[in-house]
Amino acid sequence: MDYIFDTHAHYDDEKFDPDRAEVLASLQENGIRKAVDVGAGIPSSKRAQSLAAAYDFLYCALGVHPTEVGDLNDETRAWLRTQAAGDPKCVAIGEIGLDYYWEDTPHEDQKREFLWQMDLARELGKPIIIHSREAARDTYDLMKEARAGEIGGVLHCYSYTREMAREFLEMDFYFGIGGVITFKNSVKLKEAAQYIPLDRIVLETDCPYLAPVPFRGKRNSSLYLPYVVETLAQVRGISEEEVLRATWENAHRLYRLPDPLCNEDGFMLK
Ligand code: NI
Repeated sequence: MDYIFDTHAHYDDEKFDPDRAEVLASLQENGIRKAVDVGAGIPSSKRAQSLAAAYDFLYCALGVHPTEVGDLNDETRAWLRTQAAGDPKCVAIGEIGLDYYWEDTPHEDQKREFLWQMDLARELGKPIIIHSREAARDTYDLMKEARAGEIGGVLHCYSYTREMAREFLEMDFYFGIGGVITFKNSVKLKEAAQYIPLDRIVLETDCPYLAPVPFRGKRNSSLYLPYVVETLAQVRGISEEEVLRATWENAHRLYRLPDPLCNEDGFMLK
C-alpha cells in the first residue's frame, strides 16, 4: 500500500507531543503520502498551519469545531479569513458543523457559526469539512440554506444512515470513513459504506481518536489506515487495491489538489 491519503488527522493534538516528529517520519516511510491536519479551534488551527508549513506531505484545514465556537470574535474571524485565503497549504475550512452530543454549547451559537464558516468557505472558494454528531436533520437543513452543494466538501466520520447518505449525496458531498467501520457493532455504517458510491468515499483517521480494531481505544495514527481499507474492501466486495486507488483520487478531487498519479482530467496514469 504505497499511496494513502489521510483526509482528516489531528497531529497537532497534545497526545502527539512526546513523539510527533518520529510519528510523522514513520508515516512518510510507510506509504502515507499525504494527510490533512484539521483545525478544531483557533489555537489548533494555528498549530495545524505550522505543521503544514514544516512538512511537504502535510496540508491543513482551518476552522472552528461546533463545541469551540466560543473562540470566534471579530479578531479571530479576521484572522481566519486572512490565513485561509493566504496560506498555500490550507485546503479547506474545517472542521465546522453541529454537535448535539455535548451539551455545553447552545445550538443557536453552533448554527450561527456553522453558517458563518460556510459563507467564508464560499467566499474563499474552499471546500468544507463537516463535523456532525446527533444533528443529522439540522446539519442537512443548514447545508441547504447555505447552498453547500455549490461549496463542496466532506462529511467527516460519517455516522448516519444510508437514507441520510442519499440526501447528502444529492449535494455531491464526500464521506469520510475511518476506524469506526472496523468496530463489530458498526452495522449502520457498514450499510452506508456499501451504499455510498465508491467515488464519494475518502479515508480518514481523526487521529489520535477512533483507532480501528485491533487497536481500538489506543492512540490512532494514519499507519492504521490499512485496517480501514481492508474492512471497506470486504464490505463492498472489491479489492483493497480498488479501495486505495479510488480513495486516493477522491481525496485529491475533494481538496482540489493536483494528483501526481493522474493526468489533468483526473484519470489514473498507472
Ligand atoms: Ni476531527
